[in-house]
Amino acid sequence: MNIIIAKHAGFCFGVKRATLLAFEKAADGIPTSTLGPIIHSPQVVQRLEEKGVRVVNNLSQLENGRIILRSHGVTSTEMKEAHEKGLEVVDATCPFVRKAQSYVHLLSDEGYEVLVVGDRDHPEVEGIISYASRPVTVVASAEEAGSLPTMKRLGVVAQTTQSYETLEAVVEVCLAKVQELRVFNTICDATSVRQDEAKILARKVDCMVVIGGYNSANTRRLAEICLELQPETHHVETADQLSEEWFAGMNTVGITAGASTPKWLIDEVIERINAIGGDKKD
Ligand code: F3S
Repeated sequence: MNIIIAKHAGFCFGVKRATLLAFEKAADGIPTSTLGPIIHSPQVVQRLEEKGVRVVNNLSQLENGRIILRSHGVTSTEMKEAHEKGLEVVDATCPFVRKAQSYVHLLSDEGYEVLVVGDRDHPEVEGIISYASRPVTVVASAEEAGSLPTMKRLGVVAQTTQSYETLEAVVEVCLAKVQELRVFNTICDATSVRQDEAKILARKVDCMVVIGGYNSANTRRLAEICLELQPETHHVETADQLSEEWFAGMNTVGITAGASTPKWLIDEVIERINAIGGDKKD
């Protein structure tokens, strides 16, 4: 059985950076917590817990020690509170998310109305809009942008995981409503690169295995995309969830993994599929 692994399967730059920081900090004995799970991988969170890094959901749960802030960032209020409490703050906010936060701050300071294209309930967006010095509008689609009023000056920023097509469609709607439009394309292509690769791979293999947390939105989306093109698609978190019968009669297996899936989980899955060996068609 041949195994083809998507080139960009697994950790994106920002998640890798945050995870490495967390493991590095776990080693020095200072009481360390993360504000929410560091990434959407229960296995990584568990490994960190084994090293003494606990998850807190609120800063009120902490009086001292060190707090690690996740890759998708926190609100300006949370950042301020962490510093005011005298905690050692390890800011693992992805630089791409930080950039979106800075542009929102800049635009609002320069007197622009600010529009963020994204999911208003996502913690990344809650963080981004908190850096504005005036109220920010969030839209998820061009349809939603259609109900915006006419404006003199508008600045647009995108949630990093937005699709380029959605940003483009929203900007087109805004062009008709705004005298001066300023757009910062803050989309990070880690998500689209993984999705495009998955589409190509799912079409050319007999079976797809998608690895990553069931609580990881980008992994679930990868699995959905693969399933649309390859009915033999299986989403697993760990190697022990693989079933031998999935591979009976398969010649080629494709593997991809979400942006929050560590390499060791991918390696374990590959090792297990190799051990299963499959029952080749010819
Ligand atoms: Fe950063 Fe993009 Fe990953 S914004 S956290 S590199 S998906």
